[in-house]
Amino acid sequence: MSTNSLTVTDNRTGKAYELPITDGTIRAMDLRQIRTDAEDFGLMAYDPAFMNTAACRSAITYIDGDRGILRYRGYPIEQLAEQASFLEVAYLLCEGELPTQAQLDKWVHEVTYHTYVHKNIIKFLEGFRYDAHPMGMLLGAVGALSTFYPEAKDIQDPANRYIQRVRLVAKLPTIAAFIFRQARGLPYEFPRNDLGYIANFVNMTFRIGEQFNDNPVLQRALEILLILHADHEQNCSTSAVRAVGSSHVDPFSAVSAGIAALYGPLHGGANEAVLRMLDEIGEKKHIPAFIERVKQGEGRLMGFGHRVYKSYDPRAKLIKKTAYEVFEQTGMNPKLDIALELERIALEDEYFIGRKLYPNVDFYSGLIYQAMGYPTDYFTVLFAIGRLPGWLAQWEEMLLDKEQKIARPRQIYTGADTRDFVPIRKR
Ligand code: ACO
Repeated sequence: MSTNSLTVTDNRTGKAYELPITDGTIRAMDLRQIRTDAEDFGLMAYDPAFMNTAACRSAITYIDGDRGILRYRGYPIEQLAEQASFLEVAYLLCEGELPTQAQLDKWVHEVTYHTYVHKNIIKFLEGFRYDAHPMGMLLGAVGALSTFYPEAKDIQDPANRYIQRVRLVAKLPTIAAFIFRQARGLPYEFPRNDLGYIANFVNMTFRIGEQFNDNPVLQRALEILLILHADHEQNCSTSAVRAVGSSHVDPFSAVSAGIAALYGPLHGGANEAVLRMLDEIGEKKHIPAFIERVKQGEGRLMGFGHRVYKSYDPRAKLIKKTAYEVFEQTGMNPKLDIALELERIALEDEYFIGRKLYPNVDFYSGLIYQAMGYPTDYFTVLFAIGRLPGWLAQWEEMLLDKEQKIARPRQIYTGADTRDFVPIRKR
């Protein structure tokens, strides 16, 4: 008998089965052979919220949640945040290797020359209500992009996939900036090819006439935040992109599903929730009472806890450092004091220690975005710009994976047994 296997005895029948173990997993489909009789469907694994189920093999991002390690394609996040540009990281995630200078130049050129969007996009952005949430606008606009590029449906053609990838990376900041200006009633600022990816985005969001604060420290801080968000293996929004993409829909629609997933307060919406929480706390003296309420189960300490990290989120460490660099330029944000004190108290509290709850990527990012001048409801849009390369890399990997099929989980039916229809007059 091979030692790399699991022997399971079905006590209902007394039969034993040997299930191979590969890469620390057993195949859920191997359980199907375990049946009580020929009529039996076979054993399934029940795993709500995928707490212990690997749904794919992936060579993109490595996380060790216990040791606080995050690597893209093997490169530590700390080195990428320190030395790489966002477009370099995007290339790395999507193509698998760091680009040579020539490859990077070509990639940057292509992205730069696809930043314009069809002017009809402006028309439907204008159709949203004046107080529309930017994430609702973003997911709508990105989904609508598929109608401008009907050839994007041809997902089997690598060259076609590549051009849609370029388009998405190029156009998302343009759409995001238009959304920003739409909410303010400001005329749109069109993309400029003489500016880099980040500078162009900042210009499109903040320029008013000749007035534009072109601060390289803030631009690099924004770039670092985007790099830190670029991928995070099988998180909720990436799983949404993979699941929706597995139906072989075009990438604009799949990414739009990812944006929808990211919108939620338990995922990308958390940085927005952190700022609201800090506002609600208001002053340092209210922190102990707030922590008590959290411990009583009345709400959560937003920006704390993570499904995977059971130690300090490595991204949160880097973001905290970036926060100080930004505040040196913009002046101190008084909410930082509240956040630091909240973190200090929480990290000493048995409730948080026992549950291994540490600050996550969202705890400090909102403070930085706010200092840069982005409104709270816009933070998740910035997260989406950062996460896009990860979604695209994972989408491509899913499509090329011969083992993948349309994503379709099983269920345990808990509803009524068969019963006869009752006409309405007899109910
Ligand atoms: N504040 C207080 N208690 C918490 C928190 C929190 N932020 N997070 C988890 N807990 C508690 C739970 O109440 C639970 O306690 P119990 O065992 O007594 O019931 C225990 O810790 C485990 O929590 P789960 O909800 O089972 O953990 P899960 O892995 O499902 O949740 C999540 C992870 C959603 C991130 C959670 O920690 C949370 O809601 N955090 C706040 C929201 C947030 O910051 N989200 C951003 C995540 S990072 C990102 O998406 C980019």
